[in-house]
Amino acid sequence: MKKQIIIFFWVASLFSRLQAQSPAVFKVDVAHPGADISPSMWGLFFEDINMGADGGLYSELVKNRSFEFFKPMMGWKETKKEGGTGKILLQNRQEKNSANPRFIQVTANASAGTFGLINEGFRGMGFKKGVSYDFSLWSRLLSGNLQLRVELLNAASEVIGTADLLLQANKEWQRQTVRLHCSATEQKGSLRIWFMGNGAAEMDMISLFPTDTWKNRPGGLRADLVQLLADMKPGFLRFPGGCIVEGHDLTERYQWKKTIGPVEERTSLINRWNYEFAHRPTPDYFQSFGLGFYEYFQLCEDIGAEPLPILNCGMACQFNTSEVVPLDQLDPYVQDALDLIEFANGDTNTPWGKLRAELGHPAPFGLKFFGVGNEQWGEQYIERFQVFQKAIKSKYPNISLITSAGPFPDSEQFHYLSKALAELNADIVDEHYYQVPGWFLNNATRYDKYDRKGPKIFAGEYAAQSKQTVSPDNKNTWRCALSEAAFMTGLERNADIVRLASYAPLMAHVEGWQWKPDMIWMDNLRSFGTPNYYVQKLYATNRGDQIVPILYKNAPATGQDSLYASAAFDKVNNEVIVKIVNAAGKAQTSEILLDGAGKLNAIARLTLMQSNDLEVENSLDQPFLISPVEQTVAVKNGKLNSSLAPYSFSVFRVKLR
Ligand code: AHR
Repeated sequence: MKKQIIIFFWVASLFSRLQAQSPAVFKVDVAHPGADISPSMWGLFFEDINMGADGGLYSELVKNRSFEFFKPMMGWKETKKEGGTGKILLQNRQEKNSANPRFIQVTANASAGTFGLINEGFRGMGFKKGVSYDFSLWSRLLSGNLQLRVELLNAASEVIGTADLLLQANKEWQRQTVRLHCSATEQKGSLRIWFMGNGAAEMDMISLFPTDTWKNRPGGLRADLVQLLADMKPGFLRFPGGCIVEGHDLTERYQWKKTIGPVEERTSLINRWNYEFAHRPTPDYFQSFGLGFYEYFQLCEDIGAEPLPILNCGMACQFNTSEVVPLDQLDPYVQDALDLIEFANGDTNTPWGKLRAELGHPAPFGLKFFGVGNEQWGEQYIERFQVFQKAIKSKYPNISLITSAGPFPDSEQFHYLSKALAELNADIVDEHYYQVPGWFLNNATRYDKYDRKGPKIFAGEYAAQSKQTVSPDNKNTWRCALSEAAFMTGLERNADIVRLASYAPLMAHVEGWQWKPDMIWMDNLRSFGTPNYYVQKLYATNRGDQIVPILYKNAPATGQDSLYASAAFDKVNNEVIVKIVNAAGKAQTSEILLDGAGKLNAIARLTLMQSNDLEVENSLDQPFLISPVEQTVAVKNGKLNSSLAPYSFSVFRVKLR
């Protein structure tokens, strides 16, 4: 009996070793490519959450530059040298510029400058040695004379840059600027202004920008962050959110018309993420709208992404107040949408097209997509969507409308909306999934059975949550990124109906976040891409133009033996692109047969992301711990033999001759 048991285990172990050694065979039907993959398939979702815009991408360094926060002096503090005298009086401008009513009146009486103000910045100010900084303010001298000594300070309050600015006598408000040179790099700096002289002046919009912004645009965006976006070669950029579009209530909704034109005339607004999470309150989080709709369109153009704006549809956030605009009062909302389309695409002899030209962009922005509401649900959404659909489609039939499928991808609300939107012939439905990694692995087949005649899909917000949705303990682990890579093989395989996809949220400041995980992290000077960023980047930079069928054991690889695969054909480079995820902790030899490909280059490129540790993350100090590595693989007899490393995401590119 004992002998029989030993023989049984010996045979079983031999069999399993033989099995482990037999390669996983993938058959790629190169001769029969399928549907087109949308050129805008893999894109970006941007929202001012986690200090993504103010304190992040928008490179203004002064917090509360126009004194419009609830607490008007938040971010500012008075400073005095021995014997210093002076005072600050907060005023509210009633006459004009009601968009930005508050300002300060400064009175000083010491020519040596013994009284001043300090601004703490957004979790400090990042300064770089050798870079120049532009200080500016709007002011009106009331009496006497005043000169400002402007200083960049390091964390120890030592001066690392300085310049003087004499306030010009003028009855009207005027803008003055001065440039400072920075002599040392500092992560946690601040700005100090000494008021020298005997006099009084009114001041507003006190601002400080680095000059090394993206494309060196004055008052522009942080170059390192835009570069990370540009490197992804995104197909689209969705903006400005997210829940921020909806507002806690309708008074706090995003209104695009208030975000264009001179920055000093843009009305600041509380950011809903200021108070949304009791566990992550951010009382100093407001929207300056320095990054407004014109800048969003410009950013899209810069990084080659289709603009995808979303506007409020007459509904406030349904996780908050759920306020709705009565249907008979929806006109202004619909008009905002129509005007936005004209602003983006209209001829320069239309009112909004003319304004676009005046702002510096006579050529149209080529808007193709427009989102009606963010994460709305219920009959009230369908009723309002129909009003928008009718108005927009009758004037702009070629604009594709993005509609909401609500926040939960398998809920009753979701099924109600999917059915109702299909009946309304909706163009593209926006589905969101913030789910655990297992959900992503199990849902690689999600779209295989979707109705091919129904609306197209926008996988508009997704991210694997290492713990649970909105948990502050969520992490950007390799486990999460790998599960997203596996899920995305399903998006690519179904690219005939899935036309757009984006990870969310996009950006977070390490000291200013409310929501985790996020694709890109930053502090005041540095930034890095998470493993999730690199997965997105690999998809976007290896998109291909057509789906190519790929089979594993005669079926699409959707998790059998922990393998997931998709393939595409890149017409421009004449290359077959094969993506394979090995979600198992052991290596797997593989054979990739390129059927009907004809002659192939003898060498294929392999871009690999891999780690045996599923919990590993990138960080500011180790930004590339998990990032793509380039390799080559031999191609012989129409076949590619490669070992699929444990917990790996492999992207193969083979050139057809
Ligand atoms: O991405 C963070 C939030 O998640 C978005 O604002 C919202 O659309 C979703 O609930």
